[in-house]
Amino acid sequence: MQQAIDQYTAEINAFSPASADELETFRIKFLGTKGIIKDLFEQFKTVGPEEKRTFGKVLNQFKQLAEAKYLELQEKFKSEIENPKSEIDLTLPGDGFQTGSRHPLSLVRNEIIDIFKRLGFVVAEGPEIEDDWHNFSALNFPEEHPARDMQDTFFIKKNNGKDDIALRTHTSSVQVRMMENGKPPFRAIMPGRVYRNEAISARAHCFFHQVEGLYVDENVSFADLKQTLYHFVQELYGEGTKVRFRPSYFPFTEPSAEMDVSCTICKGAGCNMCKYSGWVEILGCGMVDPNVLENCGIDSTKYTGFAFGMGIERIANLKYVIRDLRLFSENDVRFLNQFQSEII
Ligand code: PHE
Repeated sequence: MQQAIDQYTAEINAFSPASADELETFRIKFLGTKGIIKDLFEQFKTVGPEEKRTFGKVLNQFKQLAEAKYLELQEKFKSEIENPKSEIDLTLPGDGFQTGSRHPLSLVRNEIIDIFKRLGFVVAEGPEIEDDWHNFSALNFPEEHPARDMQDTFFIKKNNGKDDIALRTHTSSVQVRMMENGKPPFRAIMPGRVYRNEAISARAHCFFHQVEGLYVDENVSFADLKQTLYHFVQELYGEGTKVRFRPSYFPFTEPSAEMDVSCTICKGAGCNMCKYSGWVEILGCGMVDPNVLENCGIDSTKYTGFAFGMGIERIANLKYVIRDLRLFSENDVRFLNQFQSEII
């Protein structure tokens, strides 16, 4: 018996389990109900009275050793024992977590909205499916205007012109809705998606995004238009960006202009983006045609206003030099991940 105890003592002292499972095997082997200690105590009952004294002590010491060892190791494997199903190896490297980022068009749209908000403009929205009145007629489009033609407009219902239903071709329709439903002064911008029936290529798409703006009040002049848009450009592209206005035509503004900025890529020196002219066009604008004001129930002898409209894709192209419009709508994360915003 003494020999067996010596052997077990050596075994216990040398015992160094690698897992809680090994420790459990140890417990069963020595301290379990059918374990070695139980067995030794059974044998102890059979030894002679003179041996009982010495062996009793040895046996008790051995039992205490096994229990102490078990308690000590149990402490070591505590978390593994308390969480037995866990097979997580905390030392392995973690899986990469992909956080989202704002779409470049949203970044640019928000920037434009921020600039105009600081000037007191509010944001207005309207439906993408429009009737002829809001998209064309109220905006002074003549019956035979080519923009009404099937080539430019996605018609949903084509009747006799005035009952047509179409996907809006610009967010000027929101200006009409706003003027019809309120009283001047109006100072608002209209961001939104618009649709035009064009073959999809690197340079054209069947939908794109606009921000249009409207300011109607007493005594609003072309000087107000120029100063507002000049300020906008300084905020968007930085102080010192030049602007120029070229006469143009829109049915709903008179006079009308297109506004160019000094090329944001080459700063006017001439590059691929500005076709070596030093200028890039960014928006259309003009004084709201009195006919449009009257169509919307606004007294054109009392009120005047200006309006402008720009494509968000165009502004984003100039900012990020994106040469293929299709990238904006393909949702390729390799493209989208390049535009990290501070605000997610
Ligand atoms: N609605 C015009 C377009 O879509 C843009 C524009 C808006 C021009 C307001 C002048 C004034 O092209």
